[in-house]
Amino acid sequence: MATREAAKKKFPLFPLFSLLCFTSIFLLLSQYTTTLHTHRTSPAPATCDYSHGAWIPHPARTPSYHHTCKEIFKGWNCLSANKSNAAALATWRWQPRHCDLPQFDPLHFLRARAHSTIGFVGDSLNRNMFVSLFCALKAASDGHVKKWRPAGADRGFTFLTYNLTIAYHRTNLLARYGRWSATDDGGALETLGFREGFRVDVDVPESTWAQALSFHDILIFNTGHWWWAPSKFDPTKSPMLFFKKGQPVIPPLRPDQGLDMVLKHMIPYVEENARPGAVKFFRTQSPRHFEGGDWDQGGSCQRDRPLAVEQVEELFSVKNNGTNVEARLVNEHLYKALKGSSFIILDITHLSEFRADAHPASAGGKKHDDCMHWCLPGITDTWNDLFIELLNRKIKGRS
Ligand SMILES: *[C@@H]1O[C@H](CO)[C@@H](O)[C@H](O)[C@H]1NC(C)=O
Ligand SMILES: *[C@@H]1O[C@H](CO)[C@@H](O)[C@H](O)[C@H]1NC(C)=O
Ligand SMILES: *[C@@H]1O[C@H](CO)[C@@H](O)[C@H](O)[C@H]1NC(C)=O
Repeated sequence: MATREAAKKKFPLFPLFSLLCFTSIFLLLSQYTTTLHTHRTSPAPATCDYSHGAWIPHPARTPSYHHTCKEIFKGWNCLSANKSNAAALATWRWQPRHCDLPQFDPLHFLRARAHSTIGFVGDSLNRNMFVSLFCALKAASDGHVKKWRPAGADRGFTFLTYNLTIAYHRTNLLARYGRWSATDDGGALETLGFREGFRVDVDVPESTWAQALSFHDILIFNTGHWWWAPSKFDPTKSPMLFFKKGQPVIPPLRPDQGLDMVLKHMIPYVEENARPGAVKFFRTQSPRHFEGGDWDQGGSCQRDRPLAVEQVEELFSVKNNGTNVEARLVNEHLYKALKGSSFIILDITHLSEFRADAHPASAGGKKHDDCMHWCLPGITDTWNDLFIELLNRKIKGRS
């Protein structure tokens, strides 16, 4: 709020300017449609960059669902686990620099998106976002929900009154992968001395989402964490071994090169196979906040309020090469691969970088602190506000 007051003082003509902008946009749009309705009071300028701004304390803010929502995984339910700042962490509001990001209205969303299907395709961080959306819609709906697994999904729900389906398709790398061991035939990898590893087929989508493309109208993809996970894909004991057209890629690639190759195949695959008119999002990397070591080295995240800008740079700048450096590195790969595609980039990285306070930490109930997933209710609620804002703009822009 302080920021907005300051902005008003600095730019006294701002309201007038935005009114003029809005008027001209309105006139332009009304040539195409006679029913341009918006439930927002102050439309943002078309150039609004939602990804830069500040978290503002907003004690009156309440999440749009209760922590008793059954879909919330126990390890993410920070209120039930009595994490000391679990209630406080949901009372911050993301204020983009030159516009507002309203909390989406779940009932309005159910009605506006009736007869459509939404698929989240990605790792557990996409599931975290999916659960947030489910709980918000469930709380606003009449409770007539069918639980099922559409098109290979890990889990999915149809809000029957609205005929709106949302589903989560689990995939860590997007591409198909599985255990690989050397055979006696003396293939190219065996000749190079590889005995064990994971075969990653860069040009084959994992079966969990291959059918999702012909099913969903709206898709939200992510991948990232598993490419920087040496605990699973140990560079010597169990390396990623990339295959293309069924043959090993020689010389073998590093994981970050493999990521480029997977994206290079999967992005056009989605473009070619998605339903006509499908709206496709790619979500940027969700940052982790391990301090004092990585997850398996006693690292933790004990902060009880968002970080300051300088702390964010200290923790995440690529130059510093800290524990959580992969957040921005993954994004470099994503941005390069998505350039020129029809995907909408859902950039949640920077706004999430501030939120060292919003992970389950020791309330996650594991041996190690969870500084990777997010408490629910929590900041993936804001990711959904942004997703829905961008979706509404895309759909309005078409009509
Ligand atoms: C959280 O606190 C409540 C009330 O003090 C208690 O009943 C409950 O067992 C606690 N839960 C956990 C996981 O510690
Ligand atoms: C439900 O929505 C789907 C599209 O997602 C549509 O094909 C189907 O006809 C709808 N069913 C009803 C009963 O309206
Ligand atoms: C970054 O740090 C890791 C160890 O934490 C090291 O293995 C790696 O070589 C460093 N990368 C650069 C570019 O300095």
